Amino acid sequence: MKRLGVLASGGGTNLQSIIDSTSKGILKGLGEVVLVISNNPNAYALKRAANENIKSVCVERKNFKDEKSFNDIILKELQSVRVDIVCLAGYIRLIGREIIESYRNKILNIHPALLPKFGGRGMYGHYVHEAVVKSKETVSGATVHFVDENYDTGKIIIQQKVKICGNDTPQDIAEKVLIVEHEIYPKAIRILIEDLDKF
Ligand code: GRF
Repeated sequence: MKRLGVLASGGGTNLQSIIDSTSKGILKGLGEVVLVISNNPNAYALKRAANENIKSVCVERKNFKDEKSFNDIILKELQSVRVDIVCLAGYIRLIGREIIESYRNKILNIHPALLPKFGGRGMYGHYVHEAVVKSKETVSGATVHFVDENYDTGKIIIQQKVKICGNDTPQDIAEKVLIVEHEIYPKAIRILIEDLDKF
């Protein structure tokens, strides 16, 4: 059974889909969420963790003198409960080098677009979907990829498309893409668990 640590900054619907897939879905018997970390004390993801009796920790950047000490605490929390795989699920901060080196090829992120398009610094949430509308794309989608030192540049594990209709707003696209996110994140985690020693 692989131990999953999830980092989330917001509502936590991807966290919820991962939790649900470990209890009654494709991750049952393969993985369990043992820790949820948020940088945002108001993140509903923390409430979701409490509802599921999963250990959660809020680590706020403002309480640390620099990025390194902030990331060191996150790494310590992950290692304290022997996390095997780190899942970023709507986590808006860049992951520090110390964490990446300790969890090389074991950190995943979900991005609400078909990377490499519409990725990189500043491309998150509604900014992504606004750029997709502005580019008059006919498809968008979601991507799960490995996390490296940059925003959204790691090796892609899985992607899934959604059709865009002419009059779709950024919010319409966000809603379509979120449904796909909930489908592909557990699948990506399963791929990693089944091939962990290959990556
Ligand atoms: C999702 O759109 C995801 O693609 C992005 O942040 C959002 C997280 O939503 N990284 P939630 O907190 O999982 O509901």
